[in-house]
Amino acid sequence: MKSNVIAIDGPAASGKSTIASLVAEKLGSYYINTGNMYRAVTLAAIESGVDLTNPGEDVFKKLKKKHRITYVKGVDGKPVLTIDSKQVNLEKIRTHKVSAKVGVPSKSLVVRKWLVAEQRKLTKLGTIVMEGRDIGTNVFPHAKYKFYLTASPEVRAKRRLGQSGEVLETATVESVAKEIALRDEMDSKRDIAPLKKAEDAICIDSSDKTIDQVVNYIVNAVSKK
Ligand code: CDP
Repeated sequence: MKSNVIAIDGPAASGKSTIASLVAEKLGSYYINTGNMYRAVTLAAIESGVDLTNPGEDVFKKLKKKHRITYVKGVDGKPVLTIDSKQVNLEKIRTHKVSAKVGVPSKSLVVRKWLVAEQRKLTKLGTIVMEGRDIGTNVFPHAKYKFYLTASPEVRAKRRLGQSGEVLETATVESVAKEIALRDEMDSKRDIAPLKKAEDAICIDSSDKTIDQVVNYIVNAVSKK
């Protein structure tokens, strides 16, 4: 089967995961969340006792040697993220502790080369809906379908606040908005594969749209092309 890639990029808490997984379901394709791969590296680093304040590339070279991080087909046929063949606990990688540090491994050339190589291999599954920051610009610059999802900072902060476990108990819309803005800045200003809309991506602002509206828009656009 010829594989196709539907790339969905966008900033933190823009609704990519919800939208991308529903699009994949509707199209009968495979959903891949690349942010979770960067989060898995971050968790592995934290669990190995690595200080992520200002690590050198050697730290990440060691992690890469020690761990295999990839998606495999689960029992229901859906892709499952694994570290060393063990299923990754999604709650553990979406904690505030991991979110606060994930921007650090994401800046590393070693980590990006490592994960991008794994991401490119996933076309072997068939048609994939892959979401992240650099899918349309860097991982699959020739993807047939590219979308860039965004939403206003306030809407994004409110959405994130509604996702318990990902924010501190004391969090407010303002504090969450600040953290999101900080991560966006780190992601857009890094040297390697920064967060950026691909020139040929369709931009969708989901601030005033329902999930269904955005999902249907993408599914229709893909079906027409
Ligand atoms: O919090 P949210 O779900 O919006 O972000 P995520 O998709 O889980 O991604 C977490 C972090 O991983 C991002 O802030 C980026 O630093 C990094 N990332 C990346 O650098 N490149 C990607 N393709 C995906 C994520």
